[in-house]
Order: sequence, then structure tokens, then C-alpha cells
Amino acid sequence: MDTVTSDILVIGSGAAGLFFALKAAEYADVRVVTKKQAAQSNTNYAQGGIASVIAGTDSFESHIADTIEGGRGLCDREAVEIMVREGPSRIEELMELGVRFSRAGSEGSLSLGREGGHSHSRIIHYGDITGRELEENLIRACIENERVVIEESCLAIDLIQDGDGRINGVFLLDTTKGVIKACQATETVLATGGAGKIYLYTSNPDIATGDGIAMAYRAGAEIANLEFVQFHPTCLYHPEAKSRLISEALRGEGARLKDQSDRFFMSDYDEREELAPRDVVARAIDSEMKRSGDKFVLLDISHRSAAWLKERFPYIYESCLEFGIDISTDPIPVVPAAHYMVGGVKASIDGTTNLDGLSVIGEVACSGVHGANRLASNSLLESIVMAGRCAKRLGSSKAERKQGAIADYPDNDGAGELETVILDHDWDLARRVMWDYVGIVRSDERLRIAGERIGQIKKTVENLYVEYGLSADMVELRNIALVSSLVIRSAISRRESRGLHYNVDHPHTDPEYSLDTVIKRSENE
Ligand code: FAD
Ligand code: SIN
Repeated sequence: MDTVTSDILVIGSGAAGLFFALKAAEYADVRVVTKKQAAQSNTNYAQGGIASVIAGTDSFESHIADTIEGGRGLCDREAVEIMVREGPSRIEELMELGVRFSRAGSEGSLSLGREGGHSHSRIIHYGDITGRELEENLIRACIENERVVIEESCLAIDLIQDGDGRINGVFLLDTTKGVIKACQATETVLATGGAGKIYLYTSNPDIATGDGIAMAYRAGAEIANLEFVQFHPTCLYHPEAKSRLISEALRGEGARLKDQSDRFFMSDYDEREELAPRDVVARAIDSEMKRSGDKFVLLDISHRSAAWLKERFPYIYESCLEFGIDISTDPIPVVPAAHYMVGGVKASIDGTTNLDGLSVIGEVACSGVHGANRLASNSLLESIVMAGRCAKRLGSSKAERKQGAIADYPDNDGAGELETVILDHDWDLARRVMWDYVGIVRSDERLRIAGERIGQIKKTVENLYVEYGLSADMVELRNIALVSSLVIRSAISRRESRGLHYNVDHPHTDPEYSLDTVIKRSENE
């Protein structure tokens, strides 16, 4: 098998992976592998911005308190403090790299947006294309850095582990040539992002298939809090609009939610109305849609002029217009969709996991900063703070690194030609089961049914995997089935409602469950 060797290997080219690579390149050679083109990441689509304490009227204490309040008793306070206090310095570094943020006022101070659950305006942004601005600049800086190599079309399949359980790199599928290769590394950093694609409707791009969680689970990593899946309240409802988010920042600028009879409903649910945290707003919309039988609700920002909207939300303005919606005059049809995986591979805020040689950063990690519900725009902040701390930690422990031997990839010999239609069927089925049975409002019975159905799909996919060997679709479907089963397992074990996990059979928060749900692969799995 083709084998390359790296000092530090990063899997994933979003904000976490790329910012880490730049920091680690100060002391090591870094290889970044990514499964499609480098820019394909959740980061690239971020709209609202990055939460950070910038205004003189704001304070670290306030951002910490808001984050902990949003997390409903499950935040790791120390991790939150670190994230919030280190945020402004990391943002300075982004600006030094060339990342632009919108400015306001005669002195050109940073323009600060407002989003749900934040008691101050503290979201720095670049119009509504903050993610693209960040991603493009990080990719450029990596390309310009002699110590960083980015390899595209390299789909990580499984982590390589030596006899002592140490992680030694990763097996990769080169998707242009269809061959498996190994990348051996002294330190492996997972930065593979989220898992929105386990649901039929999601704001996430196609890359978000939960690969990092699946690979880490198979290798024996601890996985935490997967029941906390965040549904974004407002994605564009249109038969031809795939994954179009309508940023929460619109509500920060006064947009209001109403039903199709023009009744504003958020005051029925929370005194913070449209700026309540996401779990509250998504459940309110879900409840309104169930009550009325309508397929969508409406988000109205028509009190703002077209000129103002084009300046503040250029992407949203244009993309709605593509579908015949002029947001300066028409309300926007919106529905909730799966958006962010709060749970993930259990890690400290500097990326340490329970597996020697494996660090985990960004959305794939569960660092404890989000608790049971992430506040808007806290995830890009978490990604850059974790990336910076992880690079620093690995830099100082460099002397202890060692590399082990690797064997061939075990499932390498499948040779059959699998009809894609079989795969497509299982992809759709798994994602529909998750949408129908493990959504915003759950019940014991629905979770049980989901467990059975996903269990069957998982078994079928495992058999196909051995029989037909590897393709990119097969690898991703195998991961979708596994991660779905872990989400269901975690949701069943939390017999209460808290934050993003709402179960009608256990509608109250129970202090007995004020702890993380941690699962790990058992010996006989
Ligand atoms: P990503 O940016 O998703 O990067 C993951 C990388 O891993 C990708 O390059 C992917 O191709 C690669 N990868 C995945 N699997 C494999 C594999 N098997 N092999 C090789 N490579 C792999 N958060 C905010 O804080 N503010 C916002 O305004 C905001 N807006 C958002 C808008 C949208 C539409 C979405 C979807 C999310 C938004 N979020 C926002 C969330 C935020 O964008 C993400 O949590 C954050 O970007 C995650 O960064 P990351 O580097 O961990 O992962
Ligand atoms: C948004 O702009 O609404 C997304 C922000 C986020 O997910 O943090």
C-alpha cells in the first residue's frame, strides 16, 4: 500500500483544521487531508459570524454567563471561560492573516450583530458571508506557508492504531484514483466537522457525514452528548432550495416570525421572542407547523429597505431573489433543519482525547463549551480557540512523539460492482428515519422504532461494505448509519428533556441527568 509519512496530520480543511495547521507550522511540517475541494466545509457557509467580546459595554462575564445559561447546566465552566477570554486574541490573529470583518460608524469600529441567547451585540461578521471570507483567507495562508501541504480528494476511512492502541495516522481513499493509501503520522488531528447529513433536511453541505465521530468511535474514543443535535429554526423553504440558511442575524436586525395568517407567535413561547435561544425558537416553529398543518412559517424583515438589506445580507438577499422572493417586500418561507452537532468526540478545550496520538478540534469535538445547546456564533469561536490551544499543546510535547508500524487496510479486497441505486436507497432511508423519528420533538416509542430501523440499515451497510469494498458513498453511508445509531442510543439514555433534547415522555429537566452522556465501543462490537 502507498504510504506517506507526516509529522503532524490534520484531517479536515475547515476553520479548525486550517487555523491549527498554520499555528502548528510554526514548529512542524503539517499535512492537511480533505475529502473534496479544500473549501468544502461547514465553515465556508457560515453566515452570522463569530461571537466575541469587543464592545466596551460588553464583558467576558456576560458572554460566559449567556453561554452557560444556554447550555442548560451541562457546560464545562472552565472550558467556557477559556473560549470566551481567548477569543479576542484569536480574532486579532485572523485579522492579521487578512480576514475582513464589516465595520460601522465614522471611526470604522467593528460592526456587531446580535443573535439568540446573547444579551449583547457581540457577533463580528463579514456581511452574511463570514464563513467564505474566513475559509478563503485560511486556505490562502496555508498555501503560502511552506510547511503546510493541503491534499484534496483524500477521504479518511479509518484511523490507524498500533498494538498499544496509539493512533498512528489514517487510511485514506484517494477518490480521484479509487485507491487506498496510508498516511502515517506522529500526531493525528481530527477536524472533520459536523454530521448534519444524518438528517434528510439540513443546512449543512454534503461533506458533513459525521466521519470523524464514526472513525473515532471505531478506534475506541469516548463520544459525548450526541443527543444534542441543533436544529436551526430558519432555513429557506422552497422545493429547489437545498441547504439554504436564513441567518439568525436577520432576527437580530428585527425580523419577526409569523404564521401564514400573519400572526406573530414568538411571544406565546418566550419573553425574549425572536431572540430566544435556538432550541426554543425551533420548537416553537415546529409546534406552530403541527398546529396549523402548514409546511412552513414566515420570517418578515420587510421593515428594512432593499438598499440596507443588500449591504447587510448580500448573500441572503440574492439567494432569495433567485427563488422569486424579494425580502424587502415579501416574507421568507422558512422551516427548521438539522444544523449543528453539539456532541462529538470527548475532548478537552485543547483537543486532548482518551486515545494517545489523537487530538480532536472544532465541531467534531465535544469540549463542553456548548453544554446542551450551543449559542449562535459560538462554534467558529470554539474552533479557532481549540485549534490554537491544541497546536500549542502539541508543540510543547513534541519530544515525546513516536511512530509505530502499520498493517494493510483490512477491508481492502471487496471487488463487486454495487449498483448505486441500492446505496441511494439506504442513504435516503437512514436520513428520513432520523428526520421522522429523532427530530426536534422525540418520544420513547419513536426513538425505539428509529433504533430498530437504523439498526437494520447499519447491518445491511456493514454487509455491503465487506462484500463490495470501498467507494466514497459507501464509506459515508457506513458512517451515517453508525453515527445515527449513536445519536439514538444517547437520546434513549437521557430520560429527561434538556436544551436541544426534548422528549414528550420526559418533558422536564431532571437534576439526576446533569451530566454528559458518554459512550464508547464495547469489546464485542
Ligand atoms: P468544517 O468547517 O465543517 O470542516 C470540516 C472539514 O473536514 C471539511 O474540509 C471536510 O471536507 C473535511 N472532512 C470531513 N470528513 C472527512 C473525511 N472523512 N476525510 C477527509 N476530510 C474530511 N457557526 C458560527 O459560529 N457562526 C456562524 O455564523 C455559523 N453559520 C453557519 C452556517 C451554516 C450554513 C452552517 C452549516 C454552519 C454554521 N455555523 C456557524 C457552524 C460552523 O460553521 C461550524 O461549526 C464550523 O465551521 C466547524 O468548523 P470545523 O473546522 O470544525 O468543520
Ligand atoms: C446563523 O447565521 O444563523 C448561523 C449562526 C450559527 O450557527 O452559529
